Amino acid sequence: MPNISYVNGRYVPHRLASVHVEDRGYQFADGVYEVIAVRGGHLVDEKPHLVRLSKSLEALRIDAPVTDATLRFIIREVLRRNRIRNGSVYLQITRGAAPRNHAFPEHPDSALVVTARHMTWQPPAHALKGVSVITLPDIRWKKSHIKSVSLLPNVLAKQKAVDAGAAEAWLMDDDGMVTEGTASNAWIVTKDNELVTRQLDEEILGGITRQTLGGLAEELQIRLVERPFSVEEAKAAREAFFTSSTSLIKPVVDIDGTQIGDGEVGDITRRLCLAYDAYMNRAPEMASAGTERGQ
Ligand SMILES: Cc1ncc(COP(=O)(O)O)c(C=O)c1O
Repeated sequence: MPNISYVNGRYVPHRLASVHVEDRGYQFADGVYEVIAVRGGHLVDEKPHLVRLSKSLEALRIDAPVTDATLRFIIREVLRRNRIRNGSVYLQITRGAAPRNHAFPEHPDSALVVTARHMTWQPPAHALKGVSVITLPDIRWKKSHIKSVSLLPNVLAKQKAVDAGAAEAWLMDDDGMVTEGTASNAWIVTKDNELVTRQLDEEILGGITRQTLGGLAEELQIRLVERPFSVEEAKAAREAFFTSSTSLIKPVVDIDGTQIGDGEVGDITRRLCLAYDAYMNRAPEMASAGTERGQ
């Protein structure tokens, strides 16, 4: 079965899916994106992802190319045409194609691309293997809360992690405080069993997994504190993990070569993994647009 993608109004075989050479996403990284997990035939947290997409567009003054209802239809159509029940969907909106000029085009025609891929979601019991992370200076721009496709510093940091045999790089601000991962939010559990993640500010992306997990922590009566934490505090933590829509909850057992806790996946991380897995499973069917959980 050919892999089908959506590009500016057309469903095309993936190998033919392309945008104009003067698309501003290509020339200026002038665009935004979203990644939504698909689990057992439903989109996990679709609504908050689309809310964040609107906010990113608004922040960059890019007009939405289609209405939300149309976008939800296109997403479902791409998943249907690719017969994906487990995987992820990628949406990208740029300011569109125009003769190269830094200033916005007078009549921008924003461009939309939707692609999807299959993934096998491991049950949490299998996924619960600890990984290592390294820390690096956060050299990104000052608006990391916008989910922009301008990801070069993230790409370079992630490659350094891969070169070091680590799963992720945690980025540090000028005060040595962890901002987030290259493609994930960072969390620790302190010796007092406090769950800590950085507060929402312009230095981190407000992760949807982060948001959902905050609610689940509350249900599990785990004390959550949103505040900055340093690399030293992370290394001395009882547990650590990072979250994203496709990595879900990844336990961290090593930071820059320092073992975290007893080097095993911690109890709170384990409980959160199980709760998040159950949450993903109970998301509504996506058969029709607009039936997602109200948030
Ligand atoms: C920089 C960054 N932070 C955090 C996240 C996690 O966001 P979400 O949970 O919405 O996937 C991502 C996801 O791609 C990211 O790129």
